[in-house]
Amino acid sequence: MRTLDLQLPGHRYPIFIGPGLLEADGLLDPYIRGRQVMVVSNTTVAPLYLDRLLARLGRFETHTHVLPDGERYKTLDTLNGIFDALLAVPCDRQVTLLALGGGVVGDIAGFAAACYQRGVPYIQVPTTLLAQVDSSVGGKTGVNHPRGKNMIGAFHQPQCVLADTDTLATLPDRELRAGLAEVIKYGLIRDAAFFAWLEAQLEALLSRQADALAHAIEQSCRNKAEVVAADEREQGQRALLNLGHSFGHAIETGLGYGTWLHGEAVAAGMVMAADLSRRLGWLDGASVERVRALIRRAGLPAAAPAELPADRLRALMAVDKKVQAGRLRLVLLEAIGRAVVTGDFDPDALAATLAECRGPAAAAAVAP
Ligand SMILES: NC(=O)c1ccc[n+]([C@@H]2O[C@H](COP(=O)([O-])OP(=O)(O)OC[C@H]3O[C@@H](n4cnc5c(N)ncnc54)[C@H](O)[C@@H]3O)[C@@H](O)[C@H]2O)c1
Ligand SMILES: [Zn+2]
Repeated sequence: MRTLDLQLPGHRYPIFIGPGLLEADGLLDPYIRGRQVMVVSNTTVAPLYLDRLLARLGRFETHTHVLPDGERYKTLDTLNGIFDALLAVPCDRQVTLLALGGGVVGDIAGFAAACYQRGVPYIQVPTTLLAQVDSSVGGKTGVNHPRGKNMIGAFHQPQCVLADTDTLATLPDRELRAGLAEVIKYGLIRDAAFFAWLEAQLEALLSRQADALAHAIEQSCRNKAEVVAADEREQGQRALLNLGHSFGHAIETGLGYGTWLHGEAVAAGMVMAADLSRRLGWLDGASVERVRALIRRAGLPAAAPAELPADRLRALMAVDKKVQAGRLRLVLLEAIGRAVVTGDFDPDALAATLAECRGPAAAAAVAP
């Protein structure tokens, strides 16, 4: 087992990474304060892993609440269902919520914990690669509003994170690849050595070799933890985690949510950010090719889908939440392993990137 400590002002918590952690006796006990535990999961993950988890929680009074599966259920209604379940028991202010699932379950259960009785502890047990390397770490929680994704939420840090790499065995291939996009992101923004390791070990990751996965998750969480520790509430450095996301969100919105997975859109977006960085003279062509090649080898799209014209993408980027005081701010690369946030770039270079980074139509771009 690998353990990382996330140190924040006033709160510190461990991230446990490795195989067999759901079976590890007593691992969670020190992080559960009261006697009640409410496990929140969904209809896909609960049949796979809920029993394993409950078997280790015999010391506690356990309850479970199973959500329908899908981003479309990441709503205030679903959140209210969790409150109903907590109050029906009833659960007291010492209850610990345990989020067992991907980022959707983690975000919504974390937000329920932030709100229930003005805040109760929770534990993240992420079961997708994306959740293990990204959403479970850092304390952002929330739900969607019909007018925007993640528009209602709170910062609420978990007591601990338990990333059992064995759970990735059942993850659909496409979800695994989408999670890899965020893994690659950490190498690009601040860890050139990790990027080089990913180039060497990509096949091991795609074939789900346990050691390779644990190393990739550990390095990703370490990088995210360092960024979050320096900037818990996204005033500055934390924005670097949005590399590829302004382009990616425009693609997700333009295609309609769910056509491409988030990680797929971010993958294309990172190549576009690299391409723009080269046009601005910040990044050399060989580095752009390294980015594009790794994304392609991971089976991820390396350009925007053909059906989204440049002006449509540009318009969608302008309404993205990263626009501050009317100016679009982007995360760009000075080198592999060094990213910067800037609003100071030539708009013609952006237009050229949007016009030229274009792949096949959406359906054909992504492996099944
Ligand atoms: N809080 C943050 O900082 C943060 C960061 C990034 C993303 N997010 C959020 O995370 C969400 C996306 O998370 P995600 O990619 O994990 O999606 P997800 O939670 O929808 O999971 C993807 C699919 O995989 C299934 N699944 C989960 N674990 C499985 C397993 N072990 N075996 C088989 N199937 C499994 C899920 O039921 C779902 O169908 C979005 O809502 C996004 O906004 C939050
Ligand atoms: Zn992301």
